[in-house]
Amino acid sequence: MKAVYVLNGPNLNLLGTREPATYGSETLADIETRLAATCARMGIALTFRQSNHEGDLVTWIQEAGAAEIPIILNAGAYTHTSIALHDAIRGAKAVCIEVHLSNTHARETFRHHSFISPVARGVILGFGSLSYDLALQALLSGADQPKS
Ligand code: DQA
Repeated sequence: MKAVYVLNGPNLNLLGTREPATYGSETLADIETRLAATCARMGIALTFRQSNHEGDLVTWIQEAGAAEIPIILNAGAYTHTSIALHDAIRGAKAVCIEVHLSNTHARETFRHHSFISPVARGVILGFGSLSYDLALQALLSGADQPKS
């Protein structure tokens, strides 16, 4: 793996002040800084982005898929609503690891269904910001490679 995209969906720009009991007190910039340090150590190019707009995420997924760059995706609430993101991952043949800070299965029932999971290589959730580091570790351990 030479590069990785980390894509963040709606409201994740509010991390740090948004419901800290659920999402922790770290900001998205804190997470980016930590992942950037790991990627720099491993010689991997990191593209780290956030948008509140579904179409931006679709475009970036297509971009990563076309470049054969794996994605770590926290789609936020679009996880539970977006057929467009599902189709983008499938259509672009993107290798995608779905991440969430919170354990969505231990929360409201509307968070139990994910449109991302069926097209994700794997899912990591419930470990706070560590979910992102674990996803990166999974990719560094070969999770981006085709299953044998
Ligand atoms: C989230 C979980 C989603 O249900 C929620 O809408 C978010 C954050 C998480 O990281 O725990 O915005 O994706």
